[in-house]
Amino acid sequence: MKKLSVGIIGCGTIGSEIAKACQDRLRERIELAAICDIDGQKALALQSALANKVPVMTLDSLIEKADLVVEAASAKVSADVVEKALKKRKAVLVMSVGGLLGKEALLGSARKTGARVYLPSGALCGIDGLKSAAIGRIDSVTLTTRKPPRGLEGAPYLKERNIDVSAVKGETVVFEGNALEAVKGFPANVNVCAVLSLAGIGAEKTRVRIVTSPEYTKNIHEVEITGDCGKVTTRTENVPSKTNPKTSALAFLSAIATLEGVVNDVRIGT
Ligand SMILES: NC(=O)c1ccc[n+]([C@@H]2O[C@H](COP(=O)([O-])OP(=O)(O)OC[C@H]3O[C@@H](n4cnc5c(N)ncnc54)[C@H](O)[C@@H]3O)[C@@H](O)[C@H]2O)c1
Repeated sequence: MKKLSVGIIGCGTIGSEIAKACQDRLRERIELAAICDIDGQKALALQSALANKVPVMTLDSLIEKADLVVEAASAKVSADVVEKALKKRKAVLVMSVGGLLGKEALLGSARKTGARVYLPSGALCGIDGLKSAAIGRIDSVTLTTRKPPRGLEGAPYLKERNIDVSAVKGETVVFEGNALEAVKGFPANVNVCAVLSLAGIGAEKTRVRIVTSPEYTKNIHEVEITGDCGKVTTRTENVPSKTNPKTSALAFLSAIATLEGVVNDVRIGT
C-alpha cells in the first residue's frame, strides 16, 4: 500500500515530535516527505535529529510535495497554510487553531475541494462529548485554563495591560471573556479554546477564563458543557513539554493520534 506522504511546517516542540513519530510509530503507513521552518537553524536541527534524512523545503514546495500538510508553526500563518493546502487539494492538520477563528469560511471551502482538514483535540479532553452534545441543544460551554506564569509570558493581552505574571502572588484570574477575545490576547497559549469553539457553539458564545498562580506546575484545562444532554465536566492536568512550557505534552500526542486515525482502518471514539 502507498504510504501517505506528510510534510511538517514548524520544527519546534510539536513539529519535532510529530516528525519523529512519522519515522517511528507511524512508519508503516506514513512517509515524512519534507519539513520547513521560518528559522533555518530549527529546520536543520530537526533534520539532523531524525533517523532518516528528510529535505528542508519552502512552505510552497512542501505543500506541493506532501499529501497531508501539518501546520505546527504559528497562529499568524495557520489560515494561510489551510488556504494554500486546500487550493492544491491537499489534506491539512492544523495545530495553531486559534488562527482559524473569524475565518471559519475557510473550513467550508474544504467541502468544495474535497480535501480534509484535521483539527486535533490538542491538550484538552471533552471534544468527543461536545461533538455529540452539539447534535442537540447546548446552553453553555466554558473553559477554565490554569497555567503557571511562564506558560503565559509574552501574551499580547498581558503586555497591553502591563500585567507581569511573574510577579503574581496567589491564584489570580488574568482573563475572562469569549474565545475570540482569548485567542487574540493569548495566541500561543489557548489554542484549545479555538478547537472547543469550532466543535461546539462558536467562538463568541464559548466562555474562557485564564487563571495563573506561582503554585501551579501543570497546564490544567477544565471544560464545562451544559445542554439538553445534561452536564459534562472534564479536567485535564497536562505536563508542560520540556522545550516549550506553553505547550503541553498531550498536544503533540493528540496530533500523532490524529495522524494515526487518518491511516488506521478502525476509528474508535466520536
Ligand atoms: N491545538 C493545541 O492544543 C495546541 C497546543 C499547543 C500549541 N499549539 C500551537 O501549535 C503551534 C506549535 O507549537 P510549538 O509548541 O511546537 O511551538 P514552538 O515555538 O516550539 O515551534 C514553532 C516553530 O514554528 C516555526 N515557525 C513560526 N512561524 C513560522 C512560519 N511562518 N513558517 C514556518 N515555520 C514557522 C518557529 O520558528 C518554530 O520553530 C503554536 O502555534 C502553538 O500555539 C496548539
